[in-house]
Amino acid sequence: MINVIGLGYIGLPTALMMASHGLEVIGTDYNKELVATLNVGKTTFKEEGLEELFNLALNAGIKFTTEYQVTDTYIVSVPTPYDKFSKKVDACYVVSAIKSIMDVCLKGATVVIESTVSPGTIDKYVRPALQQCGYVIGEDINLVHAPERIIPGNMIYELLHNNRTIGADDKSIGEKVKKIYTSFCQGEIVVTDIRTAEMTKVVENTFRAVNIAFANELAKICRHDNMDVYEIISICNMHPRVNILQPGPGVGGHCISVDPWFLVGDYPSLAKVIDEAMKTNDGMPDFILNRIYEIMKENNISDFSRVGLYGLSYKENVDDSRESPTLQLLESQERHLAIPLKTYDPYFEHDIVPNQYHEFDKFLGDIDLIVIMVSHNQIKENMNKLKGKIVFDTRRCCDLPGTYKI
Ligand SMILES: NC(=O)c1ccc[n+]([C@@H]2O[C@H](COP(=O)([O-])OP(=O)(O)OC[C@H]3O[C@@H](n4cnc5c(N)ncnc54)[C@H](O)[C@@H]3O)[C@@H](O)[C@H]2O)c1
Repeated sequence: MINVIGLGYIGLPTALMMASHGLEVIGTDYNKELVATLNVGKTTFKEEGLEELFNLALNAGIKFTTEYQVTDTYIVSVPTPYDKFSKKVDACYVVSAIKSIMDVCLKGATVVIESTVSPGTIDKYVRPALQQCGYVIGEDINLVHAPERIIPGNMIYELLHNNRTIGADDKSIGEKVKKIYTSFCQGEIVVTDIRTAEMTKVVENTFRAVNIAFANELAKICRHDNMDVYEIISICNMHPRVNILQPGPGVGGHCISVDPWFLVGDYPSLAKVIDEAMKTNDGMPDFILNRIYEIMKENNISDFSRVGLYGLSYKENVDDSRESPTLQLLESQERHLAIPLKTYDPYFEHDIVPNQYHEFDKFLGDIDLIVIMVSHNQIKENMNKLKGKIVFDTRRCCDLPGTYKI
């Protein structure tokens, strides 16, 4: 039996996927409310295909509880934030989950850490925690790191099709865990050592963060000299060895805006490009705010209450607002304006910020300038409603004439 620890954006779909592919799974989360919601047959976030998978897993017998289970296989997918000052990974959730597992696990159990951690975290925090409790690693307990790569918005497809990495001290344990993942994963699964697995996951997200920062910097350069950054990137990408990502209003979520900081925190004198890239991305909400001021001036708008931000999530078609550019922009704007800008996002039924609307038409009726921060399908399908508005599109999803770009 597999006990999946942490039933958030990663743990829940993983547990459901395993259960729906014939594995016996119990999901554990210390959040009582979340477990109660799952136990009344409701999913806890919105994701394409999640409900169907949930029903398949329920029929296959998956259970949810707040208790850790006595078993021989654990999959840990708890949060791994970074410390805002040191930039290092904060491993406290992982260590706490490991300690709770040790209270109940069977001798010889395998603990698979799916949470993203910086290279060396398992050596620095997890092994000592196990040793302090008298566990001999490799005998009483096996450690494995199997970082997750799925992207919200396409999670279910990616769980089935992405390639994966499994890091283990002992190759045979790695192969044993690979068998578990092979039950549902059709991608290639590479088995390596733990430190390499830790590093690869962080490097992958860092690659994307640096590439996005490059696109963002190009956007600033092009804005300065009134050139079309999108056209320039699209022509450059016709080069067979160039692949520049798109600029945007900033980077959010639990991965690209977080993981590269781990390398800056651990290697401050070496990770210079990464440090600058992260600062560039983090500076984008302020850049957008300045663009809003410029566009307001150009259109003789002096009343900030006539400006609205569309989208609160960090990316399209998801309800995850962690580190979202819109929230960062609102935080920055709070320092200059008494009243927060109006916002609307179809994925948030409850207020997460002040001045938040819950009806698209009412939101549009109360503003003159709409700033598209997130390109949800909903707005793409309703572009005709924006006719007559001043549109500032930070996501390149609106082709109405006169639309302002980044
Ligand atoms: N969200 C993503 O897109 C994504 C993608 C790839 C990897 N990851 C990584 O996966 C990990 C989990 O991320 P997430 O987005 O699912 O986080 P999340 O916050 O959505 O979920 C984590 C869950 O763990 C629970 N939890 C925390 N500590 C616990 C404990 N000691 N015992 C039991 N439950 C506990 C929380 O209540 C929460 O429900 C992170 O390391 C993240 O970096 C996330």
